[in-house]
Amino acid sequence: MMSQWIKIAAVEECPPGVALERLAGEQIVALMNVDGEFFALDGVCPHQGGPLGKGCLAGAVITCPWHGWQFDVRDGQHCFSPSVSQPTLPVKVEADAVWVQVN
Ligand code: FES
Repeated sequence: MMSQWIKIAAVEECPPGVALERLAGEQIVALMNVDGEFFALDGVCPHQGGPLGKGCLAGAVITCPWHGWQFDVRDGQHCFSPSVSQPTLPVKVEADAVWVQVN
């Protein structure tokens, strides 16, 4: 299947410091705004499936609301376990909206 860009939020819905959970097609996405820059991760925590987009964002670190696993939203890297990383999605801002690329 070809990848495609999907609009998931208005820019104003996700100000700096905010994380959102959104659907892009059938994929759950965690969208984060770090100091005006947007990042997107697969929204399903690799631990037990918690909703990363409903977690707490502090700086560039999102904390899963279920058991506290933490990821750097810029590259998906788990903050303590080098072997764990969460897939990232390409993000762009266009026409006052945030778009992610899904496969
Ligand atoms: S499901 Fe995310 S930390 Fe357990």
